Amino acid sequence: MAANTIVGFDPFDPEQIADPYPAYRWMRDQAPVYYDDANDLWLVTRYDDCVKVVRDPSTFSSKLGMRRLMTGLDLGRRTSQQFADTVEPLQYLTDLRMLIAMDPPDHVRLRRLVNRAFTPKHIGLSEDWIRSLCEEHFEHLLAVDADGRADWVGDFTWPFPVMVIAELLGIPTSLKRDFKRWSDDLIGLFGGKGADAELAVTSFMELLAFFDEAIARRRAEPADDLISMLIHNAEEEDEPLSSDEMVLFCVLLLVAGNETTTNLLSNGMKVLASTPGVLERLRRQPTAIPAAVEEILRYDAPVQALPRGTKQPIELHGTSIPVASTVLVFFGAANRDERQFRDPDRFDVDRGATDHIAFGNGIHLCLGAPLARLEGRIALETLCRHVTEVELTAAPVPTEGPLLRGARSMPITLRTTQGERLTNHD
Ligand code: HEM
Repeated sequence: MAANTIVGFDPFDPEQIADPYPAYRWMRDQAPVYYDDANDLWLVTRYDDCVKVVRDPSTFSSKLGMRRLMTGLDLGRRTSQQFADTVEPLQYLTDLRMLIAMDPPDHVRLRRLVNRAFTPKHIGLSEDWIRSLCEEHFEHLLAVDADGRADWVGDFTWPFPVMVIAELLGIPTSLKRDFKRWSDDLIGLFGGKGADAELAVTSFMELLAFFDEAIARRRAEPADDLISMLIHNAEEEDEPLSSDEMVLFCVLLLVAGNETTTNLLSNGMKVLASTPGVLERLRRQPTAIPAAVEEILRYDAPVQALPRGTKQPIELHGTSIPVASTVLVFFGAANRDERQFRDPDRFDVDRGATDHIAFGNGIHLCLGAPLARLEGRIALETLCRHVTEVELTAAPVPTEGPLLRGARSMPITLRTTQGERLTNHD
């Protein structure tokens, strides 16, 4: 769809979700603060405006934004009281103390306590075992492809990040399936439309019980894992994390770290399959892989948008946004803003754009960015070592909703370095 034929944006329209970029361009040019009256949402799409919003937590509250997310962003279309009743416990639980849903000063304290465990240096210590885990999953991908059924998502990009988080948290690998199910049920809420709130609440409860027990065990008997480290760091600071804070933080890691990284790897495969020469270039010059990861993040952001709620009336581009409004910050649109990036719709490994905001900006800048970057680099390095050609054999099944962008499944064909062609017949 050409940008000049667009006269609006429906964030829940599957056709626009499939390729939102022309509509983003239209909004950036024609309506940088666009009011979606069907859903009572304010959409912000220019780079400078997105940065401005996320850097002003005293006006644009994450707590209010996340509360709205929990009740459904497409609330304007919902009349079901039952839905609102079901999400109430979820809203209550999130209101407690979840980092991503907190505003200063609460956010400042909690973020300080968890920061140390996520520095690039600390995360770098995990490189060796993450690489082994990646290799193991990649071999599985190649093995299932031998009978022609490789799904880049199902066989690689979802199990790999789940296992990394499980390993970091010291969770038994036998619980991998439960982990994925819990994560999927909660992330369903990010899909907005049609989220199964009852399922999300059930999974949330199961997760809380699970982590409650795991944390109590670590308090009694510390191990060499992230949970024990968080407990130890907080005690060292003489400011222990409460059990609620610990539990909710672990839940957040699971939810924030899985689907997002899966989407990064899925969006990366789409680029490799559709942009001639990129895989070949990365195979020839693996030192360009970190730059390729950054460009994938910019070009097709795994988190397209997140909400904020206004704590006071505010004017942006001459548009008045009332108090208690929900503003959707479109990181995915900002990363394609021609005011910030030259020729933004072109994928260019050599662009050197370190100013993309795929990990957000300001106080909520993604805590897991060093880990996501490491996983992205290791996955691409592993792919480049094993594979000389990739091809999508069918259209990927996209993720739902306007907030996350990736695929639920992606049938592929790979030509390996042994010259074998592995095919998916789906
Ligand atoms: C490519 C992968 C990822 C992307 C694109 C991504 C994106 C984001 C974005 C845009 C935010 C900002 C939220 C906001 O402003 O409201 C964020 C926050 C966060 N992310 Fe990530 N993320 C990724 C991977 C991860 C991983 C692997 C983890 C953890 C293991 C993680 C943990 C978090 C946490 C805890 C926050 C909240 C930080 C805070 O509120 O201070 N993320 N992420």
